[in-house]
Amino acid sequence: MKKISKICCIGAGYVGGPTMAVIAAKCPDITVTVVDINEQRIAAWNTEKLDQLPIYEPGLAEIVGEARGKNLFFSTDIERAIDEAQLIFISVNTPTKTYGIGKGMAANIRYIESCTRTIARVAKDDKIVVEKSTVPVRTAATVKAILEHTGNQVKFNVLSNPEFLAEGTAVRDLLNADRVLIGGDSDPDGQAAIAALVDVYAHWLPRERILTTNVWSSELSKLAANAFLAQRVSSINAMSELCEATNADVREVARAIGMDSRIGAKFLQASVGFGGSCFQKDILNLVYIARHYGLREVADYWEQVIRINAHQRERFAKRMVTSLFNNVSDKKIAFLGWAFKKDTNDTRESSAIYVADFLIRERAQIHVYDPKVSLDQMRQDLRELGSRPADVNDQHLFASSDPYEVLNGAHAIAVMTEWDEFKTLDWPRIHKDMEKPPFVFDGRNVLERRELEAIGFQYSGIGA
Ligand code: NAD
Ligand code: UGA
Repeated sequence: MKKISKICCIGAGYVGGPTMAVIAAKCPDITVTVVDINEQRIAAWNTEKLDQLPIYEPGLAEIVGEARGKNLFFSTDIERAIDEAQLIFISVNTPTKTYGIGKGMAANIRYIESCTRTIARVAKDDKIVVEKSTVPVRTAATVKAILEHTGNQVKFNVLSNPEFLAEGTAVRDLLNADRVLIGGDSDPDGQAAIAALVDVYAHWLPRERILTTNVWSSELSKLAANAFLAQRVSSINAMSELCEATNADVREVARAIGMDSRIGAKFLQASVGFGGSCFQKDILNLVYIARHYGLREVADYWEQVIRINAHQRERFAKRMVTSLFNNVSDKKIAFLGWAFKKDTNDTRESSAIYVADFLIRERAQIHVYDPKVSLDQMRQDLRELGSRPADVNDQHLFASSDPYEVLNGAHAIAVMTEWDEFKTLDWPRIHKDMEKPPFVFDGRNVLERRELEAIGFQYSGIGA
C-alpha cells in the first residue's frame, strides 16, 4: 500500500471539520479536502473571519487558520475530491430514523449509502473507504456490497474508524486521544489498508494508542462506549433522586464512589440529563440491534438508560412548576444556557429544549441567554420537537445577548448549561432585579449554593 498523500472527508460537520483540521495540521505531507452537500456550511468553513466558522470549538479557529489553503481545503466538489483521494472518510450524519421500519430507534444510514454510491460511481483507482460516522454494527457489509458491484474493477478496502471526540473538547481530544480504533479485514489487503491509516495517526499519536481490531468489533465498540458513558450519567442521575429523598448529597456520593479506582471519578456529574446528538441516538440504535437479534433482556437493560434521562428532565421541570406555587403561566423564567454542554454551539437533544417545552405547555415565558446560540436556533429546536404550532412557541421564547436583560424581572432561573461565565455574574444585582422570592434551579450543580442562599435566593440543585 502506497503512503497516503491525499485524503477526502465527506461530511463537514462536528466530526469531519475538527478531525480533518487536526489531521491536516499534524500531517503537512497530506492534502485533506473536506466536502459537503451543504453549500452554506462549506462557505462558512471558508470564511475569512475565523470567529464565524460553522462550529465553535476551543482551539479550532487557530488550527483551521494555520492549515486552510495550505493542505486543508473545504469544497462542494464532492466528485473531484473523491476522484483525487487515496483514502476517503465518510463522516456524514446517522440520525435516528423518523419513518418506517425502526422509526424512532434505528440509525438512518441513508446518507452513508448515498455517499458510498457516489464513491462507487466516481472512483477510477483503488480506494480505502473509512467509516468515521457512528454506524450500526455490520454496516461495513452494506458499504462493501455497494462498492463491490460497480463493475469498474476498482479495488476498495473498507475500514471502521469511529470517532471518540467530545464536543467542547474536540481539538484537545483529537490531539491527545486516549485511543484511536481501526477495524479492518484480516486478509493482506485489509491489513495493508489498516497500516496506511495507522501511519496517518502515527504522525502525532504513540502507536500503542492506535488499536486495531476486526471491523465488527470496531463498529460495535463505538456504540458500546457511548452506551457505557451515558449509563454512568443515568446511574448518577438515578442516585440524585434517591439523594433528594434521603437528604444525602449526590456530589458527596459521587466523590465517595469515584475515588474507588475501579469506578473512577469521571462522568459522575449529576445533571438535568444528558443531551447531544449521539448518546440517545446510539443507545436507541443499540437497543434496536439487540431486539433484532432477539435479545430482549439486553435491549431492555440499555433502554432504561434513556428512560432515566427523560425522567430526569421531566422531574426537573415539574419541580420548577411546583416550587413556583404550581403556576408559571405568564411568568418570566430565565434560562442560563441552551447548548447541550459548555464550550459548544451545538444544541442537538439539549435538555434545555425539553424543559422549555414542558414549561411552555404551562404557558411560561422563557427568556434565554446562551453565549453561542442564536434565538433562531432555539426556535428551530422547539419547532423540531413539534409539540405545538411554531408561532405559539415563538410567543413564549425569547433571547438576548445580555444576561442581565434576560434575568431582569424573572421569577426563576434555570441553569441549563455549565458555561463558566455564569459563575461570575453579578448575583447580588440579579437578586435585586428579580421577582421575589427569586428561585435558582441549578440543573448542572455549578453555582455556589451557600453564596446564593446568603444573598437571598431559593436555591435547588440536582440531588441535594
Ligand atoms: P453533522 O450533522 O454535524 O455533519 C454531517 C454532515 O454531513 C452535514 O454537514 C451534512 O450536510 C453532510 N452530509 C450528509 N450527507 C451527505 C452526502 N451524501 N454528501 C456530502 N455530505 C453529506 O454530524 P456530526 O455531528 O459531524 O456527526 C457525524 C457522524 O459522527 C455521526 O454518525 C455521529 O454519530 C458521529 N459522531 C459525532 C460526534 C459528535 O461529537 N458530534 C462524535 C463522535 C461521532
Ligand atoms: C459523547 C462522548 O463523550 C464522546 O466520546 C463521543 O465521541 C460523542 O458522545 C459522540 O459519539 O457523539 P458529547 O456528546 O460531545 O460526547 O459530550 P459529553 O461530554 O459526553 O456530554 C454528553 C452529555 O452528557 C452532555 O449533555 C453533558 O452535560 C452530559 N454529562 C456528561 C452529564 O450530565 N454528566 C456527566 O458527568 C458527564
